[in-house]
Amino acid sequence: MTTTFIHGGTVVSSSGSSRADVLVDGERIAAVLEPGTTALGSDLARTADRVVDATGKYVVPGGVDGHTHMEMPFGGTTASDTFETGTRAAAWGGTTTIVDFVVHHTGEPVLDGIASWHDKAGGACAIDYGFHQILAGVDEGVVAAMDTLVAEGVTSFKMFMGYPGVFYSDDGQILRAMQKASENGALVMMHAENGIAIDVLVAQALARGETAPGYHGLTRPWETEEEATHRAIMLARIAHAPLYVVHMSAKQAVATVAAARDEGLNVFGETCPQYLYLSLEEHLFAPGFDGAKYVCSTPLRSRAEGHQDELWRYLRTNDLSVVATDHCPFCYKEQKEMGVGNFSKIPNGIGGVEHRMDLVYQGVVDGRISLARWVELCSTTPARMFGCYPRKGVIAPGSDADVVVYDPNGETVISAATHHMNLDYSAYEGVRVAGHVDTVLSRGTVVVDAGEYLGRAGHGRFVRRSLSDYLI
Ligand code: URP
Ligand code: ZN
Ligand code: ZN
Repeated sequence: MTTTFIHGGTVVSSSGSSRADVLVDGERIAAVLEPGTTALGSDLARTADRVVDATGKYVVPGGVDGHTHMEMPFGGTTASDTFETGTRAAAWGGTTTIVDFVVHHTGEPVLDGIASWHDKAGGACAIDYGFHQILAGVDEGVVAAMDTLVAEGVTSFKMFMGYPGVFYSDDGQILRAMQKASENGALVMMHAENGIAIDVLVAQALARGETAPGYHGLTRPWETEEEATHRAIMLARIAHAPLYVVHMSAKQAVATVAAARDEGLNVFGETCPQYLYLSLEEHLFAPGFDGAKYVCSTPLRSRAEGHQDELWRYLRTNDLSVVATDHCPFCYKEQKEMGVGNFSKIPNGIGGVEHRMDLVYQGVVDGRISLARWVELCSTTPARMFGCYPRKGVIAPGSDADVVVYDPNGETVISAATHHMNLDYSAYEGVRVAGHVDTVLSRGTVVVDAGEYLGRAGHGRFVRRSLSDYLI
């Protein structure tokens, strides 16, 4: 078994940081050596198969991105990253585990989806991967399948109050699935938008000739997100089930989550870098058809209304508990262009799996969150939330050796010319981050080092997840 000794760095956890060396033996972390064990340390520095000098750098648990859509068929096309290209890009950015969504459509046998996701991801991934299951129309067969999936390590289910006719579930179906989740310990994840109301607003906008990408945002006003978030919380309350609200962008919707948490309800919010950095005015209403690059749901929100700053604040207060990417890339050419002349035909999604660790780290540099909170939001809480802690999300003896050496003195300039996602533009073109992913280990194997990719398709393994650590 190969041993790797990472020495001289500052190990960061969700509760703080300290100078320590890390010994990796095979696929696992064997020891975290505090200063004072220098004799043993210098011995290991001589005898380890590989030595990584982390002097002046942070040593952090590999990122866990709990929300990706690799090669997802959606919006009349397919997300442009395969499991191979998307997980390679994730590794470049310091993410060592993804949890991807298995698709289900009303009337289809649910268990067919998981088989096809295993076919796509098996042998293709550069890093470890798990699956959530989407549930569209819910009948008693679907409810029974939730038990089977939990037993197979698929312990979370995404439901949609948006996208009528695609993934939409009505309130009765949502309640039924939540009742099952409350019984078997699964976590219900909610796409909280009032899709029925949105469809009316979209039809009215198009009839007025409002066809540009920016109208995607205006026809999904914050009220549609807040209302659905509130309804989802009430349904979860009736079912005594935990609730995780995905890709939150409206400050009013997060305020509703905060109020529920203050009442003691087991409700969690997730946001994504696009909602922290991008806006309705500057991006969705970019000149010409360029706004199509930023079409995603929930939509980008107005900077004048202050959503972005509020989301950063809610990351501090833990009313938003996780940052994921909702990585769902569609190329501008031929994919986003499907919506020229009709914004409702633009495939919904933004690619960003490569940049989450950097973009959230910039929040540390800007004084918005602490170093420990960065690790908590990007690694530790998602690992706990999705039942793979302490195997993932922490640097501790016995944990998988998913480790990132991060250089706070480095710089990352994000650009489509240099990124590794299969995507012909970057939503963050030109953004400079005062930090850099230097070295990435996935289960003890160095997959990225000093600007070189050393990983391989098929290294990544399926993670059978346990129930969420946040159940009460
Ligand atoms: O626009 C988005 N979010 N696309 C991906 C599908 C989803 O709703 O998460
Ligand atoms: Zn969604
Ligand atoms: Zn998504």
